[in-house]
Amino acid sequence: MLVAPSILSADFGNLARDIKAICDAGCDLVHIDVMDGHYVPNLTIGPVVVEPVSKVATKPLDIHLMVENNNFFVDLFAPLKPKYLSFHIESEKHPHRLIQKIRSLGICPAITLNPHTRVEDIEYLLEDLDMVLLMSVNPGFGGQKFIPTVLEKAKKLKDLINKRNPACLIEVDGGVSDKNIYELKNAGVDVVVAGSYIFGSDDYTKAIKSLQI
Ligand code: DX5
Ligand code: ZN
Repeated sequence: MLVAPSILSADFGNLARDIKAICDAGCDLVHIDVMDGHYVPNLTIGPVVVEPVSKVATKPLDIHLMVENNNFFVDLFAPLKPKYLSFHIESEKHPHRLIQKIRSLGICPAITLNPHTRVEDIEYLLEDLDMVLLMSVNPGFGGQKFIPTVLEKAKKLKDLINKRNPACLIEVDGGVSDKNIYELKNAGVDVVVAGSYIFGSDDYTKAIKSLQI
C-alpha cells in the first residue's frame, strides 16, 4: 500500500517544515488538496504557495483538484510537474478531453469520484487513466468519518480495471486510519490518502508505516 499524507491537516504556518517531515518519515507521495471555494465549501492553496513549499519535497506530488474550472487549474499546476493530477468527474463536462490534455503535459492523469458516483460512469475512461481516486468522505474538509460503501465500490472498480487497464491504480481519500487499512487492502486499494491520522499522531514514521501494509 502506498501512502500519501494530505497536507490539508498540516500546520499551514509551517507547511515546508511539515512537508519535509512526512517525506523524511517515509511517505510515498505528497497529497495536495486544491479547493476553489465554489465546487467545495472550502478554499485552500494555489501554485503561488505550493511551488515554494514543495521544493523541499523528496517524494512526488499528488494534486487533487476540487474545483469548477478544471482546465484553468490544470494549466496553473502543470508547471509544478506533479506525478498525478486528479479532477472530479462530477465537475467536468469533457473528462476524456481533459485526461488527454493532462497526459500531453507529461503528468499522470487521475480522476476522482464522490461517494455517490457509480464506478461504471468511468468505465470507458479507464484505458486512459493512471489512477482513480475514490472519495470516502465528502470533499472539502479533513477529519471526517470514513464512508464504508467505498469498499464495495473499490471491489467493483477493481473488476473493471482488471478488464480494461490492470496498470491503473485505485486511491482512497478520507477517514483512512489503521482501523480500516486492512479492509481497504482487501478491497484492492493501492494508494491511501491520510490527513488527520498522520498529522494528528506524534510519530509520523510510525503512523505512515502502519498504513504501508
Ligand atoms: C478532503 C480531502 C482529503 C482530506 C483527508 O476533501 O480530499 O485529502 O485531507 O483528510 P482525512 O484523512 O483527515 O480524512
Ligand atoms: Zn484529497
